[in-house]
Amino acid sequence: MTAFSVRLTGTKYGCGGGGCGACTVMISTYEPTSKKIRHYSANACLLPICSLYGAAVTTVEGVGSTKTRIHPVQERLAKCHGSQCGFCSPGMVMSIYTLLRNNPEPTSEQMIAALAGKYCHFLICRCVLKPFSSGTLCILFSTDEFQPLDPTQELIFPPELMRMAENQPKRTLVFCGERMTWISPVSLDELLDLKAAHPKAPLVVGNTSVGPEMKFRGVFHPIVIAPARILDLNVVTHMDDGLTLGAACSLSLVKDILTNAISEFPEEKTKVFCAVLQQLRTLGGEQIRNVASLGGNIISRKSTSDLNPVLAASNCVLNLASKGRKRQIPLSDIFADGVGNNTITSEEILVSVHIPHSRKGEYVSAFRQAPRRENALPITNAGMRVLFEDGTDIIKDLSIFYGGAISTTICAKQTCWTLIGRHWNEQMLDEACRLLLQEIALPGSASGEKVDYKKTLIVSFFYRFFLEVLHLFLMILVVSFFNWNIQNLSFSNNSLLFQDPCHYPGVPMEYRSVLQDFQTKMPQSIQIYQDIDPSQSPQDPVGRPIMHQSGIMHATGEAVYVDDLPSVDGELFLAVVTSSRAHAKIVSIDTSEALQGPGVFDIITAHDVPATNEFYYSDDPEIIFARNKVICVGQIVCAVVADSDVHAKQAAAKVKIEYEVLEPVILTIEVQIEAIKHNSFFEPKRKLEQGNVDQAFETVDNIIEGEIHIGGQEHFYMETQSVLAVPKGEDKEMDVYVSTQHPAIIQEMVAASLGVPANRIMCHVKRVGGAFGGKLLKTGLLASVAAVAANKTSRAVRLILSRGDDMLITGGRHPFIGKYKVGFMNDGRIRAVDTKYYINAGCTPDESILVAEVSLLKMDNAYKIPNLRCWACACKTNLPSNAAFRGFGFPQSALVTETWITGVADKTGLSPEKIREINMYKENAQTHFKQKLDPQNLIRCWNECMEKSAYYSRKTAVIEFNKQNYWKKKGIAIVPMKFPFGLGTRYLSQAAALVHIYTDGSVLLTHGGIEMGQGIHTKMIQVASRELNIPMSRIHFCETSTRTVPNACASVGSAGTDVNGMAVKDACQTLLKRLQPIINKNPKGTWNDWIKEAFEQSVSLSATGYFRGYDENMDWEKGEGQPFTYFLYGAACSEVEINCLTGDHKNLRTDIVMDIGCSINPAVDIGQIEGAFVQGIGLYTMEELKYSPEGVLCTRGPDQYKIPAVCDIPEQFSVSLLSSSQNPYAIYASKGIGEAGLFLGCSVFFALRDAVTSVRNERGLKNTFSLNSPLTAEQIRASCADDFTEMVIGIGERCLKHIKVNIL
Ligand SMILES: Cc1cc2nc3c(=O)[nH]c(=O)nc-3n(C[C@H](O)[C@H](O)[C@H](O)COP(=O)(O)OP(=O)(O)OC[C@H]3O[C@@H](n4cnc5c(N)ncnc54)[C@H](O)[C@@H]3O)c2cc1C
Ligand code: FES
Repeated sequence: MTAFSVRLTGTKYGCGGGGCGACTVMISTYEPTSKKIRHYSANACLLPICSLYGAAVTTVEGVGSTKTRIHPVQERLAKCHGSQCGFCSPGMVMSIYTLLRNNPEPTSEQMIAALAGKYCHFLICRCVLKPFSSGTLCILFSTDEFQPLDPTQELIFPPELMRMAENQPKRTLVFCGERMTWISPVSLDELLDLKAAHPKAPLVVGNTSVGPEMKFRGVFHPIVIAPARILDLNVVTHMDDGLTLGAACSLSLVKDILTNAISEFPEEKTKVFCAVLQQLRTLGGEQIRNVASLGGNIISRKSTSDLNPVLAASNCVLNLASKGRKRQIPLSDIFADGVGNNTITSEEILVSVHIPHSRKGEYVSAFRQAPRRENALPITNAGMRVLFEDGTDIIKDLSIFYGGAISTTICAKQTCWTLIGRHWNEQMLDEACRLLLQEIALPGSASGEKVDYKKTLIVSFFYRFFLEVLHLFLMILVVSFFNWNIQNLSFSNNSLLFQDPCHYPGVPMEYRSVLQDFQTKMPQSIQIYQDIDPSQSPQDPVGRPIMHQSGIMHATGEAVYVDDLPSVDGELFLAVVTSSRAHAKIVSIDTSEALQGPGVFDIITAHDVPATNEFYYSDDPEIIFARNKVICVGQIVCAVVADSDVHAKQAAAKVKIEYEVLEPVILTIEVQIEAIKHNSFFEPKRKLEQGNVDQAFETVDNIIEGEIHIGGQEHFYMETQSVLAVPKGEDKEMDVYVSTQHPAIIQEMVAASLGVPANRIMCHVKRVGGAFGGKLLKTGLLASVAAVAANKTSRAVRLILSRGDDMLITGGRHPFIGKYKVGFMNDGRIRAVDTKYYINAGCTPDESILVAEVSLLKMDNAYKIPNLRCWACACKTNLPSNAAFRGFGFPQSALVTETWITGVADKTGLSPEKIREINMYKENAQTHFKQKLDPQNLIRCWNECMEKSAYYSRKTAVIEFNKQNYWKKKGIAIVPMKFPFGLGTRYLSQAAALVHIYTDGSVLLTHGGIEMGQGIHTKMIQVASRELNIPMSRIHFCETSTRTVPNACASVGSAGTDVNGMAVKDACQTLLKRLQPIINKNPKGTWNDWIKEAFEQSVSLSATGYFRGYDENMDWEKGEGQPFTYFLYGAACSEVEINCLTGDHKNLRTDIVMDIGCSINPAVDIGQIEGAFVQGIGLYTMEELKYSPEGVLCTRGPDQYKIPAVCDIPEQFSVSLLSSSQNPYAIYASKGIGEAGLFLGCSVFFALRDAVTSVRNERGLKNTFSLNSPLTAEQIRASCADDFTEMVIGIGERCLKHIKVNIL
């Protein structure tokens, strides 16, 4: 299966831990007794190869290829513009393909489930979801073009495997590797013998628990036992009192079995099944559930198990066996000692699990709250069961278990015992909550472990259970009443149920909605753009929604990324050794043990760098290898090169570094503000000022002051940092294949580090699997590491960072603190603003000063503030250095702006949209640095967005909804945007292109831009096609290389198409000018005729094109300039619904109107807007980076760091491009669109704020409150203060309206 041995490189490696879905493949197995073939999707990264004996594995290459025929799934993904960088496309294809193999006509729920395990910062709803849905109106592609499925192209299950399964009796399989032995027995007795002989050997079924431990936590098992083929462990038995399921049953199978059972058995008997099913729906992604076993989930006893609390609460029984002994124990016994250690011995195995039927008068529920609604481990979960005395509301038995709270599932047994015999009423609820909080003691919050939130969830879940039971109970009561059975029922005098049930139809209406969990629905999306002028030539592709040039290659897995390149003879693999201290002197580096590791070739340190180890782009250096001291955890100290990736990593772990800790260790900017005495800044600090701020403050009606904290963001490009450095063997030449958005800087840094002229170093970039600003200087340092190693060893060296190392080493978006003071009149006019931004730059400057500058230049967003002062400083801390990131400071500073806008609204009592309108740029104006702007299109976007979103009528509907719902609230917000385009200075926007025409008429185009998902090559081919007046099919783009286009500027700042488009146009026009006399002479000739003639006339058929760049400047001394060339405008309206009990939320609808001039390719551009918007949702509402107090990044993979998934895309999502917008400054009147949409994600932040405000108003809480970004469920819950939060913190604001559970 490995890419290198069979050259099937379509399956991608994004995380290695089952968390991203990039490696999805289809597994097919044949069951000889039933003669059925089972297909299921699985994550290849966690599949032990030995577990695949007798199975067929289909990778994306097996689904379809350009060499044979592409599959309809691949065709639709590509033609419906469903891929951007393409790195995750094969995983998408495989999930949907497997779904269709099993269900040719899947429901939308099945489609959502299939895509739930896929993550990508390019997530776009139209592109990902629409292609597979039928009957949806979409104007970006025509379904008429799609080829029907040719059934003969489906791979059949290999007959030899079928024969093998039928003819070969099952026998024990033993696979012996270099270090491990895999034993797969076929009988229970054999398994028990093995377990007795090797009690420490794990039983591996899905490997989803053992695998990550071995890969990421250094656990090693010399022997592994695989029990999946033993029949006893796969039984499914229906018994009188319930179901018995084999421990090796996959969670998907359990889900199917329970779903069937629910439809077969009377409702009364299936309450446990329903509760378990509830957890299974969101447990992991489908690929995880398809392999993970029931037994594995129970036995691994992780505190985050979603099944243990509900199974334990439901009295499930475990059937255990060991050699010579079988026994049954209730699952709850395992957790009886409070640390989950009880009862099961190391020789025992779990054979099966008995899940009982529920009884009359018994109610069972399960709850979970996770950082993301689907495919995320829970923060806290719970299983609860109550049984009432017959015909009463008296508790006969109660069982409550929680997960996620401490290191194991925990039982609230004292609470349950105390409550037995009590009536199910408010007094019981009150006491239960207090008892629960006393009993479930959580450790302190030193590690930021959300302790208060977990405690709040503990009581909130119980309250929800209380309501649920009450609701069901009363429904039964009503039925009983009408059946005249009421005389048999007995209730306490103060029971809620005591009186005539006709007057008590259940839980109060306004409480009921909280009984429904948010469901993920298939997003409905609309894209609207202006069609091209009918007079435009049909051949001219500009303005048309052309498919991404590599779309088909993405979908077939044929698109080549750095790690897909074939190995070079003698190639070595490199693994980095990084600092484990935030600020320390390196006392010694001991490499002796590492050097003795198998396959180790050498260890590279700073001493091996022939020339430059430190690059001074400002006063402080960017460093390749730490030399004497380290300045952050994750700094590269040295690197191991070995004959394989595995050997290199094993040896890297054996390098011992001794440190002497240095003071101070500065990690956060809060500390930094206090620690100004350390003078820990990167210079210069920047300031802009207009008007007379101090004077204005004296004349205003009101002043507010506040601050907002905005967390950082991980780039989370799907392709991690990747380099292949290949020494050419002569004249110190080296080819560097690298995943970067700036090949010229890579060339410069590699050449400087090796001490050779740049003309010996050639950088090649075919495509990049996402970058978002993260593949600039950092990639230069990593490329230098690989190049130094290649130089020292004279071998090719491949460096592919693991996801964990990538996240640890490379930094991300700058965390931000914005402090503001705003003066305004009672009518909402803002007269004066004074703001300060502190940005956490990390340990080296990178581009932090530029980020600080841009944050100031763009801080006004859409507003004209007559008196304005703002300043920013980049704080130097001992964190990995932060870098450029889509939006470059604007998403942070404009969020601060929108926060004080909302603050002004709160204070004046006017609505936020009124304050926005009052202060918005309205006529030709100047910015705070005296650049002119015409805001006409800003107003148009705002008005159109208001209209398209039906803002006011929906706002009324939201208010109405909120009146009728107590525990669920909706919120709506509309936010405008002005996004200035420009790089601040001319030389940064220069560009060049090179166009060759070959004698057969085909054209090879190259330019300095990098394809990283934004479709730049597609657009450049469109430009060349228009200019040369030939079809796009005649034009090819091969790669970006420093060999063809020297000194190209970075592909950053949304500028790629603008500047390279100009250069391509220039080159094509030069060629056309040369051809013109020939064309004039033979106007009826064909392109080929003209080219042939030109060649024969010795006319050069190769031309360069050049664009000098935009005339941009900024004088920071004066605080004036023209740093931007033009402005993009936009507006977004979002509506959300929150669950006040858990803090969970759902994005209901978003309408975006965006002015991007005349789009060159609306499909690509709308994809950019959608993708950026969803990335913005991630930034503002969910992506949380967590560090230990020692400065170690804890969130180092998709399991800990959650980016948006399908469940986070607004259910209704519409993007409209503003019509009739012209831009005289950019190619074909277009506008650069890569970054702007991200900020609009904050409309969700403010919609959430609106919902929280509604909660607080209803409860009489003070209306000035601050919310930070990301606005996670934890923060939402804490802001919706009530008796539960008060119980938890013991202090705080008291809710005026106490929690009520009845309708009296
Ligand atoms: C990306 C990802 C997301 C996840 N999300 C969730 C989630 O949202 N909620 C959740 O609850 N879980 C989640 N999990 C955890 C997952 O559900 C468990 O890892 C899985 O159920 C374990 O089953 P397995 O067959 O893979 O176990 P394995 O890794 O094969 O084995 C796990 C352990 O169980 C023991 N074991 C297995 N079977 C037996 C047996 N029959 N008798 C005795 N011991 C046995 C093994 O010895 C081993 O120690 C997630 C995991 C991943 C990788
Ligand atoms: S690489 Fe396998 S799930 Fe991410």
